[in-house]
Order: sequence, then structure tokens, then C-alpha cells
Amino acid sequence: MKNVTVNASRSYDIIIGHGILPMTGQEICKRVTACTAAIVTDNIVDSLYSDAVCKSLQETGFSICKFVFKHGESSKNLTTFGQILEFLAQNQLTKSDIVVALGGGVTGDIAGFAASVYLRGIKLIQIPTTFLAAIDSSVGGKTAIDLAVGKNLAGTFYQPSLVLCDPDSFSTLPKNVFADGIAEAIKYGVLSAPQLFDKLAQGNPHLDLASIIEQCVTIKRDLVMRDEYDNGDRQLLNFGHTIGHAIEHCSGYTITHGHAVAIGMVTISQAAWQLGLSDLDCSKPIKASLLANNLPVSSPFTAKQLSEAALLDKKRRQDSITLVIPRKIGQCILHQIPISSLYNFINQGIREEA
Ligand code: GLY
Repeated sequence: MKNVTVNASRSYDIIIGHGILPMTGQEICKRVTACTAAIVTDNIVDSLYSDAVCKSLQETGFSICKFVFKHGESSKNLTTFGQILEFLAQNQLTKSDIVVALGGGVTGDIAGFAASVYLRGIKLIQIPTTFLAAIDSSVGGKTAIDLAVGKNLAGTFYQPSLVLCDPDSFSTLPKNVFADGIAEAIKYGVLSAPQLFDKLAQGNPHLDLASIIEQCVTIKRDLVMRDEYDNGDRQLLNFGHTIGHAIEHCSGYTITHGHAVAIGMVTISQAAWQLGLSDLDCSKPIKASLLANNLPVSSPFTAKQLSEAALLDKKRRQDSITLVIPRKIGQCILHQIPISSLYNFINQGIREEA
């Protein structure tokens, strides 16, 4: 079993281990006195993993209640958020009880948001069941719901009390959902782990997932501890995301997050090289690595469509936007540009090379 400790506004462990899902109760008990656990999950994860988690929690003295919502991003809204809060109140959860977010990014985000505001905050346990959620949204305390105007426009910073990650739960993921996690892991390689990047670039399907998760969450942990509230270095985690979010938006969310981030990483790297901001042309190794993992490297959208969509992004601050630029594989920097330059930047990134 691997353990990564986060010392942010709350200190907590990220426990990573094959087969730990049926030991959920034992792991939580080490840190929280037995009480009521409200499990929040979607209907797909419920049918796969709720029984093991509930059994373990009951065996270790927890009372259980469970809120199940329809799977998918369309549920991450004010209505479901309100229903979760009402559910917690109807089940009389108190400050000594816990919310257990069992599922992917949608579940972690919305359950985390509810836990952060119910009674002004009750303890939250994240149990990510997707590769993507394991290395990103379950760690670092960002919670969110979507508003009609855009994704993740309302939320809080609220650190969990524990993250429990069982890579065996990824075995039931569709191939493209698993690949979303690979794209995000490649991002961590470009940010600060050239050896991880090289390993992923081989496209080997038999990866040591526990070790990859440990490396990724350690990188994220270090950035969160330096900049919990996202005013500085934490923004490095957005590599590929500004254009990635624009691609998701332009596609009506038919292109999934990891796939869109993959294209975003190529676009930004190519533009950075063309504009003399990188020491090396990182777009070539990034493209090769993505292709080796059956991930896309381009989208059908124009620079105009992408720049207009990128300007809706919450990362924009007044008249400028901060982009993450790879200097070389393993080193990225923050680079602010005026929003008037964004079209040209993206155009450089999607232009076919002569
Ligand atoms: N997903 C990026 C962050 O947590 O800052």
C-alpha cells in the first residue's frame, strides 16, 4: 500500500492500494470515530462498488445512508446539489458524520461541494473509481457544480479528510474513459516527471497503476501545498486545459475531458515552439506519446471557435489569460498573454506544419 500525505489547510492521507475498497471501513476508522456515513454515488458505480464499501463500513460500526444519482456530467448541477443537501439533512447527519464520495470526477466534485457547505462543512472521504479522478479531482480540495453558462462555475476549496484509491476499480472502465486518465498522467510527466513521461510514451497497457498514481498525486500534492488557493504555481496543473476546456465546450461535451486536454497539450506546445517560448519542440514527443495511447492530437475546430470558447474560461482574469507552456519535457512555466493575442496563439498551435 502507498501513502502520500498532503499538508494543506487540512492534513490528510492519500492511500493507494490494489484491493483496498473492501477495507474502506478499516481505513476510515483509523482516522474517524464510527458515526454515520452518507455515501454519494452514481447509478453505475453503485451497482459495481457500493456493496463492498457499505459492507466494510457496517462491519466497522458505521451506520449507512446512500444517495444515488444518474451518472454523467448533466447531473452535476444545482438540482442534484440541492437534493444531496436535503438528503443529508433528512438523514440528520451531524458535524461528527462523514460524506463518502464514491465514484469519478462528477461524484467527487458535487459530493465535495455538498460536504463543504452542509452545516458549514462536514468531513469528506474521497474514493475515486476512475483513473482520472484518482490523479486529479479527488486530491487538492477543488469542489464544483456546473451552471447553465459553463462548467465548474460554482464551488469551494475544501480538502477531504482521506482519499482511498483502489486501482482495481479501474478494471470496469470503458477504454476511452481509462484513456482520459492516461492523458492526465502524461500531463504530469510533461510538468515535472520526464521518466514517467517516457514510461507512458511506450503505450504499454500493463502499467503499474499504483506507482503511476503515487507519482502523479505527489506532483499535485507539492503544487497544492505551495499554492492551495490557485493563485500561482497550482495553475501549472492547467497545462492543456484552457484549450482543452474550449474543445469540450465546442464539441458540446462529446469530446471527454482527457481527450480534449490531450489535444490542448499538443496545440499549446506547438504554438509555444512556433512563438519561441520553448527550448525544444515538445509537441512532437507529446503527440507520439498520445498516439501510442490511442489519444487524439487534433480537433476539427477553428482558431476562432477555440479562442472564443477559451475566453469563457474561468481562468481568464480581466484582459489576460495565463497559459502553461512546456519549456522541455519535465519543465513548464506560467505565461500570461493579453486576450487579444489568444486567437493568434491558438492559430499557431493548430496550423499544419509546412
Ligand atoms: N485540476 C486542477 C487543480 O486541482 O488545480
